[in-house]
Amino acid sequence: MTDRLARFTLDPAFTVGTVDPRLFGALVEHLGRCVHTGIHEPGHPAADADGLRTDVRELVRELGVSVIRYPGGNFVSGYRWEDGVGPVADRPRRLDLAWRSTESNRFGLSEFAAFTRETGTEPMMALNLGTRGVAEALDLVEYANHPGGTELSERRVAHGDKEPFGIRLWCLGNEMDAPWQTGRKTAEEYGRLAAETARALRQFDPGLTLVACGSSHRGMPTFAAWEATVLAETYDLVDLVSLHAYYEEADGDRDSFLASAVDMESAIDAAVATCDHVGARLKSKKRINLSFDEWNVWYQRRSPAHAVEDWQEAPRHLEDVYTVTDAVVVGSLLIALLRHADRVAVACLAQLVNVIAPIMTEPGGPAWRQTTFYPFAQASRYGRGEVLDVRVDAPTYPTERFGEVPLLHATAVRGEDGTVTVFAVNRDQRAPLPLDVALRGLDLTRVVEHTALADPDPDARNTLDDPARVTPHPVTGAKIADGTLHAVLEPLSWNVIRLA
Ligand code: AHR
Repeated sequence: MTDRLARFTLDPAFTVGTVDPRLFGALVEHLGRCVHTGIHEPGHPAADADGLRTDVRELVRELGVSVIRYPGGNFVSGYRWEDGVGPVADRPRRLDLAWRSTESNRFGLSEFAAFTRETGTEPMMALNLGTRGVAEALDLVEYANHPGGTELSERRVAHGDKEPFGIRLWCLGNEMDAPWQTGRKTAEEYGRLAAETARALRQFDPGLTLVACGSSHRGMPTFAAWEATVLAETYDLVDLVSLHAYYEEADGDRDSFLASAVDMESAIDAAVATCDHVGARLKSKKRINLSFDEWNVWYQRRSPAHAVEDWQEAPRHLEDVYTVTDAVVVGSLLIALLRHADRVAVACLAQLVNVIAPIMTEPGGPAWRQTTFYPFAQASRYGRGEVLDVRVDAPTYPTERFGEVPLLHATAVRGEDGTVTVFAVNRDQRAPLPLDVALRGLDLTRVVEHTALADPDPDARNTLDDPARVTPHPVTGAKIADGTLHAVLEPLSWNVIRLA
């Protein structure tokens, strides 16, 4: 044994919880080219009758997205849903104050419903509680979900959608604590509005899943206090509280960036503690879980929110091009979500196409996979089942932001068929990391596959000119001997090791 060895034990008697498939969601916002020329481009050679790009649709399926949150993001706080229904030629052009763009409304609720049908995903609709309130939320849910026989439901039928959309997941606004949010509220104001809206929605359908806005990020001065105040008003009325987090490499500090999941895991722990604190105060048996409905790597310092010319339609905005390092961090953030599968019920990568996204498109041209596409696709494909409790024993390295951090970040998921997938990140930028996993009480004898996303150039990217520069590659040498998995993780790598 060398002191560079990382290890942990898997035992089916010790589990975290069952993965909710809703953990593999993504955000589609009217922002930049996420919608227009991203998922929707009438006239594109690959567009279907609804103007949806079928090449993008295929990539969304391959990515394994389960839920699509829509239409924002900050955009929703000024959105009038009625602008996006009915004949396209009659839809108004509007200013989008959130991103200082012009919105054509050529894509709206009906097109969104078609997109979710075509991609086999579940819609998650965000309500505008910035400039609007209870009445408009009720109108939208009736238009979307009521079968017929009322003015609003018949309006949907007349617009060509005979079947209701059946949207179960609803966000009560977006980042309502944020200074940048149109119609920003105090915790007291928002708590009351969220409670009133939730109560009214439950009068329509008690079975909806409702998400109250938590803080827009953990660094907000009111983080935790905001959640406690909002939940004091809404505890019995909502199911989930939202959490958002974006990470980037700052000032060349790659060691800290590679440890971003340390922050994500402690944000989850803090939000859970706050939910449970309110539950305890209320002496409630109900448990509020989390909707981590925006997370990703986002180079906000490189691409400020208002860096493009004002009032353009679908400008190239926030089109971060991701490196191998970014993909390893995204993999680590996925590991963090899986490690908290007992309390994180929904999660959405923000966003899906072009805007800080795993899928890129060129107007009139091709669509391709960014580096970050791969960890998400693999986690969604193999990360379904029971998360096993993983207590890592690994060498550590010093980081500026998080102190000593283990070089190994890992989780393991046991599928219904008894196979187990280990997801592991080696945070060491220079050296490989040997890994031993003791397999206790698990009938595993064979390594089916070990793949890694790693590259001699940690800044390698996929681009329009070189769309397949970075892909996961097979790794040889992993084996099971005497009930222990032995593997070696390449420097700065995301690993998927499948055992049967
Ligand atoms: O995903 C980009 C933006 O980040 C979203 O619109 C907003 O909710 C968050 O601040």
